[in-house]
Amino acid sequence: MTAPDWVSLDELFDRVLHTEDDALRAAREAGAAADMPAIEVSAQHAKLLALLVKIAGARRVLEIGTLAGYSTIALARAVGPNGAVVSLEHKPSHAEVARRNLEHAGVDAQAEVLVGAALDTLAQLQQRGEVFDLVFVDADKENNIAYVEWAIALGRPGTVIVVDNIARNGRVLDPKPADQQAQAVHDMLVMMGAHPRLDTAAIQTVGTKGWDGFAVAVIA
Ligand code: SAH
Ligand code: DHB
Ligand code: MG
Repeated sequence: MTAPDWVSLDELFDRVLHTEDDALRAAREAGAAADMPAIEVSAQHAKLLALLVKIAGARRVLEIGTLAGYSTIALARAVGPNGAVVSLEHKPSHAEVARRNLEHAGVDAQAEVLVGAALDTLAQLQQRGEVFDLVFVDADKENNIAYVEWAIALGRPGTVIVVDNIARNGRVLDPKPADQQAQAVHDMLVMMGAHPRLDTAAIQTVGTKGWDGFAVAVIA
């Protein structure tokens, strides 16, 4: 049996489903032009995030990890004109590119980028009394347990939590001692499984991003 061509099939899906429009493509290209790593979600994954926002009826969305704002654009479109996305980004240069991309996509009124270490900006959001209907966790994996705990603290019963990168080419299965990211993802999945308020699925994916996946949880 020949190996399945995951990338070509993803490209077929993108083509026939018209998944990535000019603004999303421009955001991805602007990130590459600014020498950011090409680690934004795939086009299909961005669309799934948008659909989850719509299915959940989410109006207020929190994203941890902005990069060039590719996923932020998808989330901001999905919340609609009366919704809001708050996206947290550590690097000012990333936030600057992301804000330009959000403006170019016409969603800058719906999406705000807060600069700082997410553990600090999350505490600021709590002080402001903000509550979110959906949280997308996609930043430094070492802090994933803390980010899921923050998502619960800033959520409500019914809030959806999505966590990116739960497979990492299988490294999460048996993390090497030096692979703190894979270990942290592993530990986060154990924590989610044990958490009395979380109901969680972990989905492996293949495609333009290789072998990875995401977890989806709902807060009880
Ligand atoms: N969600 C984006 C990709 C995010 S990549 C998309 O799919 O389009 C991860 C981002 O998290 C990077 O921009 C990185 O700078 C940021 N990041 C890393 N550590 C962080 C931290 N402690 N607080 C906030 N952002 C962080
Ligand atoms: C990588 C991919 C991601 O989606 C991410 O958020 C961080 C890192 C990676 O492939 O290294
Ligand atoms: Mg990711």
